[in-house]
Amino acid sequence: MTLGLDAYLPATPNGIMVMLERYGIETSGKEVVVLGRSNIVGTPMDHSLLSRKGSPGNATVTLCHSRTRDLKAHTQRADIIVAAIGIPEMVTADMVKEGAVIIDVGINRVDDTSRKSGYRLAGDVDFAGLKDKVSAMTPVPGGVGPMTVVSLPDEYPPGQQAAGLN
Ligand SMILES: NC(=O)c1ccc[n+]([C@@H]2O[C@H](COP(=O)([O-])OP(=O)(O)OC[C@H]3O[C@@H](n4cnc5c(N)ncnc54)[C@H](OP(=O)(O)O)[C@@H]3O)[C@@H](O)[C@H]2O)c1
Repeated sequence: MTLGLDAYLPATPNGIMVMLERYGIETSGKEVVVLGRSNIVGTPMDHSLLSRKGSPGNATVTLCHSRTRDLKAHTQRADIIVAAIGIPEMVTADMVKEGAVIIDVGINRVDDTSRKSGYRLAGDVDFAGLKDKVSAMTPVPGGVGPMTVVSLPDEYPPGQQAAGLN
């Protein structure tokens, strides 16, 4: 994958790439900030997919993590933010520039006694606080999660990668 050869792609990053393509979100030349460097989301989003030569791709990607100094300085200049941190609603409106695109990967359980289950699902992004500021944003639940599910291959012939990314 990193060499740009045919490979199995991790399901969540593949789902995000397909979503960017289907919604016509331009990534070429854009400043993308990826929050989180896990092997299953953040690192492949950065190294192998968004900065690759191709479409979607050709972005300038900054990969942030828990040791990043002044996270807000990075997120504030991002055209696209991919949040995969695992901290509920950590990305707030003051961290994001007007018109940015937000991909919220986070799936976090937050205590909510008003619900029978005792919890609600929240992303890594403050959806309510950001919905009037951004140009596009994925909801949680209902955004990246389902894209991950549809990106899980039933069976790939050897050497063939997931749909949508050639
Ligand atoms: N929607 C989906 O299909 C899907 C798929 C996978 C994961 N998820 C969700 O995505 C979230 C992240 O999961 P993951 O497995 O990718 O990551 P993870 O392994 O839980 O790692 C979290 C990453 O966030 C970084 N981080 C933690 N606190 C931070 C902070 N305050 N500022 C900046 N970076 C910080 C960590 O930095 P360090 O490396 O320095 O520790 C790490 O790289 C979780 O909520 C998970 O449930 C959803």
